[in-house]
This record gives sequence, C-alpha cells and structure tokens, in this order.
Amino acid sequence: MIPRPPKGTDDILPPASDRWRVLLRAFDDLAERFGYGLVITPMFEATELFSRGVGAETEVVEKQMYTFEDKGGRSVTLRPEATASVVRAYLQGGSSAVFKVAYAGPMFRYEQPQAGRRRQFHQVGVEYIGEPSPDADVEVIEIGFRLLEAVGITDAVVLLNSIGDPADRAAYRELLAAFLTERAGELTADARRRIAANPLRVLDSKADAAVLADAPTPAGHLSPAAAGHIAAVRAGLDAMAIPHQEEPRLVRGLDYYNRTVFEYQSASYQAAQASLGGGGRYDPLAGMLGGPEVPGVGLAMGVDRIVLAMPAGDEEAVLDVFVVAADAGRRTIALELVRSLRAEGLRVDLDLGDKSVKAQFRAADRRRAATAAVVGEEWESGRVTMKDLRSGAESSVDAREVAKWIRRR
Ligand code: HAM
Repeated sequence: MIPRPPKGTDDILPPASDRWRVLLRAFDDLAERFGYGLVITPMFEATELFSRGVGAETEVVEKQMYTFEDKGGRSVTLRPEATASVVRAYLQGGSSAVFKVAYAGPMFRYEQPQAGRRRQFHQVGVEYIGEPSPDADVEVIEIGFRLLEAVGITDAVVLLNSIGDPADRAAYRELLAAFLTERAGELTADARRRIAANPLRVLDSKADAAVLADAPTPAGHLSPAAAGHIAAVRAGLDAMAIPHQEEPRLVRGLDYYNRTVFEYQSASYQAAQASLGGGGRYDPLAGMLGGPEVPGVGLAMGVDRIVLAMPAGDEEAVLDVFVVAADAGRRTIALELVRSLRAEGLRVDLDLGDKSVKAQFRAADRRRAATAAVVGEEWESGRVTMKDLRSGAESSVDAREVAKWIRRR
C-alpha cells in the first residue's frame, strides 16, 4: 500500500494548484508594491518562543502545537504562526528602524481537520514593525483587502474591533471574569474552566453565545488614546471605501494584541471557520519576548481558505501554445521552436515521446493550451500551422512570427 499523507495535510497539485499560483503571485506583487521586503524564518523554533510570544494560556499553545524533543534534547515546535518569529528576528537584528516584511509558507496546528481547517496550512502575511501610527494599521488592513479583490473575492468585509491597551485589557478582563462568574451556572463546562486562566477566550465560544450577548465588550472600556487610535483606523478605511464593520466581541486567539484587531469575511466562504485572514496591532509582543518596547501591526491570510472561496474562473489556459510535431523526423525542429518561444517569454510545452499527432493534440487539451503550433511539411517553406484550440480555427503563420501571432490573438 502507498502511504497516505498525514491527517489534515494535503498534496496541492495541478490543476487545483493553478489557483494557488494566482494567489501567491498576487500577494508577492502586492507586498512588493507596498514596500515589504521578503522574510524567511525557520519552520521550527524553540517552544519557548510561542509560549512567551503567542501566550501560554491560548488555545494554540495549549492544544494545537506540534512540539517534540530533538535529538539534542531541546524542545522545539513546528511554527503555528509566523509573527512571533518575525519579531524575534527583528529584535535579534538590533536595529530600531521601521521594518516591513512579507512571508508565505506553511504553518502547523493540531486541529480537528475539516474543509478550510488543516493541520498543515498555508499563510501569506505582512508585519509592519516600529510604527505606532494608525495609518500603519490601515495600510496592513488594505493589503489583505486588495489581495482578496485581486483573486476575485469582491465582497469581503473587514470585521474590526479595539481591545485597548494592556491596562484597558486588564481592567476589562476583570470585568468580564466577574460577569462570567456571576453567570457561571449558564455556561458550558469549558467556558467555566477558562474564567480564571483566560476569560477572553470564552468570547469565542459559540456554545455560550446566549450568555455572551449580555457580556461587557472591550470597546466599551478604552483609554482615550486607544479610542482615538481605532477612530483614526476607521476614518482611514472609510477614506479608501474599504467596507468594515464593528465586531465588539472580536478579541482573537493570540495574546500579543493590543488596540486594533481585525478579520476578513466573505459571503463566498461561509464555514464554521469563516475567517479568510486576520491580524492586528501587537505593541506588547517585543516586550513579551524580552526586548524593548517596539510597536507593530500585521496580518496573515489563510491561503487554503481563500482558494476555496475564489470564484470558478473560465478554465483559463495555462499554456500559450503546445507545439505538435507532425512526424517523428520533425521533433528536433519542434524542440527548437519551443525553445525560441520560451525565450520570448511565452508559456510553451510539447510532448517528448513518440506520439501520434492526435495524441499530441489530446495532450495539448489536457494541458489546457490556448493554441497549438503544428510543425509539418510547410516548415520547409518557413511556415507553421497555428490552431486556436477553443474555436478550432487554423491559420498558416510565418515561422518567425509565431510569438507575435500568439500575442495578437
Ligand atoms: P490567525 O487568525 O491565527 O492569525 O491565522 C490567520 C489566518 O490563517 C486565519 O484567518 C485563517 O484564514 C488561517 N488559518 C488559521 N488556522 C488555520 C487552519 N488550521 N487551517 C487553515 N487555515 C487556518 C495569525 O496567525 C497571526 N499570526 C496573524 C497576524 C500577523 N497578526 C499580526 N501579524
């Protein structure tokens, strides 16, 4: 028996991976245009990075980490997210300059797998470190929105909230804990257990929604500075006509956030795990890792989920041309034509086996080529037969003009 991939992991193969390529390219392009450099951090880290950075009481750290001892006896963890690593890397660099970076790669969380919730999943994200201005929050939120737009998800909404500064949060936490304790009899056992350790986590519990409807919200308990900050973020999003709505119960599951937190949703992706991406401001994180106070804001988008939400395209061609050799004797010429067209920047392929013309055309269809170039007898007079594989129309084209012909159609 051929071994199967581990539960909650996927092989992402063509043609399904065509969408991944579209998305990853769109992200790379956006990140570059917004001035984010590329960052690559290790896929495993000292476990301590996450227990300190993400928070020991969080669901991610408590239940979802792939943690093991390496052969040297160190506790290491497959990264469940990348923000803690990026901030660590920034602090180790020792500079205090503004730092804008983008990443793409797999993350690992031991979750109950379902569509859009995987144990190995892919994120693309940006981190804007060293900038306290609400305009940085607005820029980061815009990037996620533009990414969704670029892949055809045009109805995305940003759910937005402020959880305040650490002092606001501590006061709110107490208030919430008091409220939950008072209503403990109506809560699930899970929620009751969380009251003491991390009452904010209860806010995520769908099973306790009825009680939570009456709970105090973080936004009602903000310092003037934090209130001014979120108002400026809202105004910035309004100015760009990015749809956003207040979500008073949005707190997010990671401990490093303060002030702005946000998630993206779309009607095209309605699952139990509905968020296509999320992020927020994390001014406390550098301090949690033992560094100086450094502000930061960032986001991560869930590629597996976005790909599920992308509209079905009109089966776009993935090759501009498939070169067909009319007989085995013309294989070398066909190969030369392939090379020259590739050098011109076109997406070109051919069949390297000794197949019939019919079989080569079948391969061209299977490979989703837009056109076929047939190298046959007319090559002797410097011509190639070009066939539009959608309409079936054929034309005889000067062999030196094939690239031009393809680009003109
Ligand atoms: P997060 O909300 O944990 O945030 O993850 C961001 C996105 O990753 C989610 O909105 C979701 O689309 C996707 N995601 C999370 N878990 C899974 C899973 N098991 N399967 C599939 N997709 C998943 C963070 O990770 C923060 N580091 C974001 C951030 C960056 N905050 C500041 N900078």
